[in-house]
Amino acid sequence: MSHGGAEASPVTAVPGSALRGRVRVPGDKSISHRSLILGLLAIGETRIEGLLEGDDVLRTARACEALGAAIIHDAPGRWRVRGAGIGGLVEPRDVLDFGNAGTGSRLMMGVAGSHPIVATFDGDASLRKRPMRRILDPLVRMGTNVVSEAEGGRVPLTLRGPRETIPIVYETPAASAQIKSAVLLAGLNSPGRTTVVEQAATRDHTERMLRHFGATVTVEPHGGYGRAISLEGHPELRGAEVVVPADPSSAAFPLVAALITPGSEVIVEGVMTNPLRTGLITTLLEMGAEIEQTNARDEGGETVADLKVRASPLFGVDVPAARAPSMIDEYPVLAVAASFARGSTRMRGLHELRVKESDRLASVAAGLDAAGVIHEIEGDDLIVHGTGRAPLGGGTVATHLDHRIAMAFLVMGLASAEGMRVDDGTMITTSFPSFVPMMRELGAALSD
Ligand code: S3P
Repeated sequence: MSHGGAEASPVTAVPGSALRGRVRVPGDKSISHRSLILGLLAIGETRIEGLLEGDDVLRTARACEALGAAIIHDAPGRWRVRGAGIGGLVEPRDVLDFGNAGTGSRLMMGVAGSHPIVATFDGDASLRKRPMRRILDPLVRMGTNVVSEAEGGRVPLTLRGPRETIPIVYETPAASAQIKSAVLLAGLNSPGRTTVVEQAATRDHTERMLRHFGATVTVEPHGGYGRAISLEGHPELRGAEVVVPADPSSAAFPLVAALITPGSEVIVEGVMTNPLRTGLITTLLEMGAEIEQTNARDEGGETVADLKVRASPLFGVDVPAARAPSMIDEYPVLAVAASFARGSTRMRGLHELRVKESDRLASVAAGLDAAGVIHEIEGDDLIVHGTGRAPLGGGTVATHLDHRIAMAFLVMGLASAEGMRVDDGTMITTSFPSFVPMMRELGAALSD
């Protein structure tokens, strides 16, 4: 399969030397998308430092331009956005093509769907399979007209926003920051208070950034794990400075690679430690990982720290379902770590993995099969039976246009007896364009 028309390009990882060095992974993908989007919705100039220049985020930048923002690329990671302002969006002349990006497309549906313009959303073969009904349902309640959609509420789809968006109270049907964010972003262009209730707290970057740009957002606890987030409509958003911290979901790959590759010691600098994103670190520590957090500090409104990790013997653990929202993108690489652990690791409540860039539960299981790792899926749980020794490896993994499947199994290959191959590595650029050179810099043997 190919990505965005490009030829598929297989990548192989084989065991070699220990990994050593100090690296910085690119800017956080969630925050990068949001900084451009709020830049579009603000009046005045937004200056962004450390933007992730991956394909997903660049698609959002193009969509923001199509809706009326002026965007200037000053230097690597440094961007400026001159906003169109809430209510000031223009109708895009072309289809908004989001490529592989679920976050970009879903958040922008909330933005465009709350303005009286017609906008068509599309994407690659992976995005065309992903459910958008979860975004369309609340938008329809807010007055958006779904002009057309592909079967089952998928892209390509066309929205026409209402003259006046209706503020609603919405309980999200899944623990999803994308649903929450789409509704809050739509609520910006409404005359009243929009409230999103979530049963389990998900990443809160939208709420934090809305406040940073001048909106009034209140957050209250809801039930045991949830939150109710309310936004006052029609705020005056003002362009702001945004510093994008390093992405913990990208840091996960060098971290796990160092843990499973004998003799390794790696420092990953300035990784965001927002507690709604650090479930993987919690889990790896429970498994016995030697990970030290040093130099904790504040960077642009988020906490960050340097993570020093050493190769460690790991042990199987039970990962509660309640932790899933804080590590939802990290299960593929956690399954890799679990393959090297002694004993079984049970990862509970993974139903949302079925609707990611690929059906990640199926993709991970197929990858584990290709590596000779014993595992089971029981309902929504994945159980990986580790022996405490490196898996045999030697297989080829079908990536299904899923960047995190590709990176997770390349990490596995670095410490498996016979290495691992992925059928395509081109889509890694969606979130982590420097993955291959950065891993090589640490000593990883990755080849075409
Ligand atoms: C994201 C939310 C998560 C996550 C995705 C990024 C976001 O998706 O998997 O990579 O930036 O809001 P869901 O909201 O579907 O859980």
